[in-house]
Amino acid sequence: MIVKFRIANRSLWSNILRALHITSRLPSDVLFVHRDTPENNADTPFFFCQENMDRACALINLYPEGHSRGALIALLDLAQRQCGWLPLSAMHYVADMLRLPRMRVYEVATFYTMFIRQPAGQNIVNVCMTTPCWLRGSECIMEAVKDATKAEVGGISPCGRFSVFEVECLGACVNAPMIQINDDFYEDLTVEDVCRIIADIKECKKPNAGPQSGRFASEPICGLTSLCTPPLPPGHSIQDCLR
Ligand code: FES
Repeated sequence: MIVKFRIANRSLWSNILRALHITSRLPSDVLFVHRDTPENNADTPFFFCQENMDRACALINLYPEGHSRGALIALLDLAQRQCGWLPLSAMHYVADMLRLPRMRVYEVATFYTMFIRQPAGQNIVNVCMTTPCWLRGSECIMEAVKDATKAEVGGISPCGRFSVFEVECLGACVNAPMIQINDDFYEDLTVEDVCRIIADIKECKKPNAGPQSGRFASEPICGLTSLCTPPLPPGHSIQDCLR
């Protein structure tokens, strides 16, 4: 339907046009719906290995009877660690273990970006693109990750060793920009840091996780700016009559 606006004042119309911002549509890097593929369908074999089965039972036993669904996320994570990603059949397996409707498991597995519902590379590289990281150059970091791994967002590198994903805030904003590779955060990144970290992983080395700027954690990079003197002793500044 075409709606025609009649605006007598042309300058008002051009002001309105200037105020309208059209954001380009960015498709998600993963589908929220499941599509059967030869490697990911309800018949894909999945069983916990004995070691993970013991872990799963221990996790379920942490919860009182009737509340075993509390172990859902932990069990999905266990399944993902076993396969490297989370097949549909693993979701069904976990649903059966916890006696949950499959839909309850789908809801959780599709909500959290930590669950990878398609075959992935050996190393999952999550690049945070939320505002604090974006203001600190996450777009350049993303380009550097794509260049170094040769993987596109949502895809697997030709060598099969990396999958790259764009994610929302991972809670390390004070050390932005940052990426997560498997279980480790790499923070205060520059493009050079990204190239070095990916190169180390390619050579099967373990790069040092955490801030790459020399900071220990999230303290000011120029040194302490407050609380620079030793704390005053108990009773300091109390009136004599109250001592
Ligand atoms: S915005 Fe990137 S970690 Fe929070």
